[in-house]
Amino acid sequence: MLIDNFGRRVTYLRLSVTDRCDFRCVYCMNEDTRFLPRAQVLSLEELASLARNFVALGVSKIRLTGGEPLLRPNVMQLIEQLGSMPGLAELTLTTNGSQLQRFAPALRAAGVQRLNISLDSLNPARFLAMTRRDQLPQVLRGIEAALAVGFERIKLNTVVQQGGNVGELEDLLDYALQRGMDISFIEEMPLGEVHTRQLATSYLGNDRLLARLQPRYGLIASSESSGGPARYYRIAGQHSRVGFISPHSHNFCASCNRVRVTVEGQLLLCLGNEHAVDLKAVLRQFPGDDQHLRQTLLAAMSIKPERHHFSLDAPPQVLRLMNMTGG
Ligand code: GTP
Ligand code: 5AD
Ligand code: SF4
Repeated sequence: MLIDNFGRRVTYLRLSVTDRCDFRCVYCMNEDTRFLPRAQVLSLEELASLARNFVALGVSKIRLTGGEPLLRPNVMQLIEQLGSMPGLAELTLTTNGSQLQRFAPALRAAGVQRLNISLDSLNPARFLAMTRRDQLPQVLRGIEAALAVGFERIKLNTVVQQGGNVGELEDLLDYALQRGMDISFIEEMPLGEVHTRQLATSYLGNDRLLARLQPRYGLIASSESSGGPARYYRIAGQHSRVGFISPHSHNFCASCNRVRVTVEGQLLLCLGNEHAVDLKAVLRQFPGDDQHLRQTLLAAMSIKPERHHFSLDAPPQVLRLMNMTGG
């Protein structure tokens, strides 16, 4: 079992399968962000081997992230393997939706239960401004395709920005409600040198957003949790849940159950810190040696930090960009 020095049990792995992306979201990376050379990224076999060993140590949920995970060549091979992995109770994916129309049926058939889809705007011009790509129609078709194949739950992720999408959050919520999807509103986190980031002015804060939505929707606090950072609310008579992911205003580190692996094979013990262990080195120096890998994972738990220290006005403390970790 993976247990850290603060008694937190790690049962959830966020596994990044690529740093590449076809969008350039303004809160995630720069227009000219460079991607890793292929030799530096883990192979699909290495990713599967990592997953198998994490599951052997008690991880029951894996979320595939990116970059955009569906851009990884032959990613379905990995997903099919994970979908039938004994001991893995939940396999999920976070995607920007651009490739979903094509992939939705195969993902469902492979055993992916839930999908998180990023959607910051329903307005084409604002979608372009926030993602730097003019692909709203593809994403909306992808969402419809995902709805059609019957995932257990689909959650939209909306990063909230003053001066950006702040005026249309009700429209996004209504869009989710009409389709029985969940939606999470996310406070932007300062990861990496994103040149356009102006958190001090773009930050709204989820408490203010909650107060704004409350009269219209009658949000009812829910004790449900996906073991994740979101605080969830229900609306009477609706299937959808409304989540608030509030790293600045409501730190959720005390109940953290997760670690991340970057596509370079760095085990990151916390999204908001640099504490890491090089798993690629272990995989490549001791190929097939599961015991060695598991010892490394167990030992890594002792450096999982207690919490992140994101700040709205200081320069970012974590230099890697979000596309390296998938959130
Ligand atoms: P669940 O698996 O349902 O809990 O999904 P999730 O909402 O945690 O994952 P998703 O990939 O959809 O990410 C939504 C947002 O939550 C992104 O902005 C992530 O960066 C953020 N997030 C996820 N885990 C953590 C965490 O441990 N710490 C912080 N600060 N943010 C996180
Ligand atoms: N802060 C908060 N969320 C972010 N995401 C990407 N960059 C950031 C950031 N700086 C979100 C994306 C996606 C999820 C994986 O992380 O919108 O939904
Ligand atoms: Fe791509 Fe996701 Fe980053 Fe947007 S947030 S650029 S979709 S990796």
